[in-house]
Amino acid sequence: MKILVTGASGFLGRRAARYFETLGWCVLAPAHSELDITDGEAVLSWMRQHRPDCVLHTAAVSDTGVCQREPERSERINVDGSVHLAAACKETGAKFIFCSSDQVYSGSAFSGPHREDEPLTPNNVYAMQKLSTERLCAEICPDTVSLRLSWMYSTEQFENEHGHFLTALKTAASDTEKTISWPCYDKRGITDTDEVVKNLPAALRLPAGVYNFGAENAYDTHTTLQNVFSCMQRDDLLSRLSPNTEAFSASPRDIRMNTDRAAAFGIRFKTTADGLRAALRKVGF
Ligand SMILES: NC(=O)c1ccc[n+]([C@@H]2O[C@H](COP(=O)([O-])OP(=O)(O)OC[C@H]3O[C@@H](n4cnc5c(N)ncnc54)[C@H](OP(=O)(O)O)[C@@H]3O)[C@@H](O)[C@H]2O)c1
Repeated sequence: MKILVTGASGFLGRRAARYFETLGWCVLAPAHSELDITDGEAVLSWMRQHRPDCVLHTAAVSDTGVCQREPERSERINVDGSVHLAAACKETGAKFIFCSSDQVYSGSAFSGPHREDEPLTPNNVYAMQKLSTERLCAEICPDTVSLRLSWMYSTEQFENEHGHFLTALKTAASDTEKTISWPCYDKRGITDTDEVVKNLPAALRLPAGVYNFGAENAYDTHTTLQNVFSCMQRDDLLSRLSPNTEAFSASPRDIRMNTDRAAAFGIRFKTTADGLRAALRKVGF
């Protein structure tokens, strides 16, 4: 199997490319400087020359705050760049996997866990760009699979990569004088990237469509941590846990996903709490 991984210097792309290599696949991972996805002609010519069987498209402006502040630049990368890849996949016959986000459920009138076919009213630039890209790519390349990823963490940290939930938690826990505080008005799944990566070969076999692709969660983030620390019998951390009652209080967020559609194809994730417990044990918590 020959696969193009865009964004292979990024958080997900790096781990995905490495995993595909362990499977013996031919992994093509051009750097941003070698293939800029905002250049449609360059993308098409690269795809014609290399003809991968499939494309895992992780390159993006993944920071929601940056998208909010720089909507035109992020539109060129998140939307136009993805459209260029979808068009090139259509022409060359490659399977296209687009990395979308659970943020598409932000602003939803419905409470979670959300299903893929719900009406959506995303309330931030990043989420709007992800949703419109899902739709555009499906039109341009009808075989597109869009994976709605949750917030991800990793037990490994590489130089120059952005932080994530586990790094923030480790930092908060390390200062024994301080409280550990996460929002109680924010409900979302949080997933170990290793689980996402190991489910990607199965994702490549999915029929075209949109799939929630990450850990489910029955709780808000504060309660999730309470459950995790309690199960780990970490009374020292439990005693320092205090809900952040301000964040999202004006407009409580619930972007949790229901993953039945992916599960019907054998794609399963641990719950957020189970995944976090395993990851915390792995990093020696
Ligand atoms: N991380 C999460 O928790 C999370 C959650 C939900 C969804 N997602 C989605 O999952 C995907 C992967 O996220 P991530 O966290 O791995 O992203 P990331 O760490 O921010 O990496 C983004 C990658 O995109 C590359 N890139 C940016 N602009 C490019 C361009 N014009 N041409 C080619 N490459 C370009 C970057 O290369 P340079 O650094 O060299 O520019 C980098 O390798 C994204 O679509 C993101 O929106 C992520």
